[in-house]
Amino acid sequence: MRISVIVAADENDVIGRAGGLPWHFSEDLKRFKRLTTGHVVVAGRKTHDSIVDRLGNPLPGRITVVVTHQTGLPRHSGVIYQPDVGSALDVAQAIEAFAGRDEVFVIGGAEVYAGALPQTERVYLTRVHDKVPGDAAMPSGWLEPFDLYGEEAPDTAGISFETYERR
Ligand SMILES: NC(=O)c1ccc[n+]([C@@H]2O[C@H](COP(=O)([O-])OP(=O)(O)OC[C@H]3O[C@@H](n4cnc5c(N)ncnc54)[C@H](OP(=O)(O)O)[C@@H]3O)[C@@H](O)[C@H]2O)c1
Repeated sequence: MRISVIVAADENDVIGRAGGLPWHFSEDLKRFKRLTTGHVVVAGRKTHDSIVDRLGNPLPGRITVVVTHQTGLPRHSGVIYQPDVGSALDVAQAIEAFAGRDEVFVIGGAEVYAGALPQTERVYLTRVHDKVPGDAAMPSGWLEPFDLYGEEAPDTAGISFETYERR
């Protein structure tokens, strides 16, 4: 069972602004959908809320394990709440294994990435070749334990897709 992080970050490792993404790249969103559909994803409560606000529902075709300190949050089909990152990863892996699959995706945001990185084996990074203002970022030096494993140049200018594996 692999724990993977999937994230888009600019050249300063900025990932978010005012609760949302600081950019819109449809090719990145398509890649996110292609890689994560059919798997269990782990999200922070704020990232989960922003997805529900944008789509009107949780991510289709995926079970979302949401990390939150709160109890009594609204029930959604396909959504499970857990009180910390470790238990969210445990539950996500158990469901993924039960479904006969072998890769759990951590989909952010910054707090949950920071909590999950020590257990992460693979990173799917969309590098945004820009330096944008933001208020959410990856931790400093976060890619140091990983080696670049693959690189793709998408059709969209200004981004590249990079895959890293824990060395
Ligand atoms: N570029 C990308 O690929 C990408 C991906 C995802 C998100 N983002 C961006 O990242 C930003 C959101 O990141 P964020 O760090 O502010 O929020 P977040 O990680 O999405 O959610 C934070 C919330 O998760 C819960 N949480 C986090 N760690 C926890 C722990 N150890 N134990 C219990 N609960 C915990 C808490 O929820 P409660 O407050 O309910 O207790 C906390 O307030 C947004 O701008 C979003 O657009 C970017």
